[in-house]
Amino acid sequence: MPNLVPLYGKDKKIFSTTDGSFSFFNLTYNEAYRAKSVGAYNESLYKFVLGSGIIDRLKKGNVKLLDICFGLGYNLAITIDEAIKSGATNRLEIISLEIDRELPEIVKENLIFFPYKGYEILRKLLKSTVEDNFSLNIHFGDASKTIFKINKKFDVIFFDPFSKSKNPEMWDIKIFKRLYDLLDNDGVVVTYACSKKIRKEFEEACFKVFSTPNLPNDFQPGTLLKKSH
Ligand SMILES: C[S@@+](CC[C@H](N)C(=O)[O-])C[C@H]1O[C@@H](n2cnc3c(N)ncnc32)[C@H](O)[C@@H]1O
Repeated sequence: MPNLVPLYGKDKKIFSTTDGSFSFFNLTYNEAYRAKSVGAYNESLYKFVLGSGIIDRLKKGNVKLLDICFGLGYNLAITIDEAIKSGATNRLEIISLEIDRELPEIVKENLIFFPYKGYEILRKLLKSTVEDNFSLNIHFGDASKTIFKINKKFDVIFFDPFSKSKNPEMWDIKIFKRLYDLLDNDGVVVTYACSKKIRKEFEEACFKVFSTPNLPNDFQPGTLLKKSH
């Protein structure tokens, strides 16, 4: 039986998730970019964008966002979309870390992702790095190394690698401590992971640990991290 699902890039297969948004399955990592059951759009909206409170921050002042990892750009496109809807006019400066150079090309070339306005601006940012009050710089390479080359403090960090079994280099106490150092004193880190074990490891890196608000249909919340001092 021939496999009729075309490949995107060298190792990605598309599938639709329960909220109607598309995600990909990565054949190299053997993992999906987003869970089918939660929905690619909903997971980014609830765990990262609403979970971090980034739009409220942006209504009050400029925001520096560290986006680990870019993936299919959902976290960023939804942040941009919600920022526009909120009427916020302050500057959002984004630094994104990503190992796979194919992904921004896939986002640029395929008009299958929503929210449309958020992705329209994201595509422009991928071409010219500044658009309206948004800026985006992607640092390509292994984020477990590039993260040590960044010398800036961030208000918000989206921590979104694949799971610990697929990306052990990213779920390491050294990385958690680096997140702590890169975070402004009243900043927040958000991640989709919520296991007791991972939360305890974040505590060992001195973070105070909270849950992000519940998702529709009782899906597990993500984790919100704040500095303890
Ligand atoms: C869950 S997806 C990110 C989803 C993305 N934040 C979004 O909103 O669409 C995980 C991403 O981690 C990237 N990745 C895996 N290992 C990495 C590493 N060591 N350094 C940088 N990026 C990595 C993968 O290429 C993939 O794009």
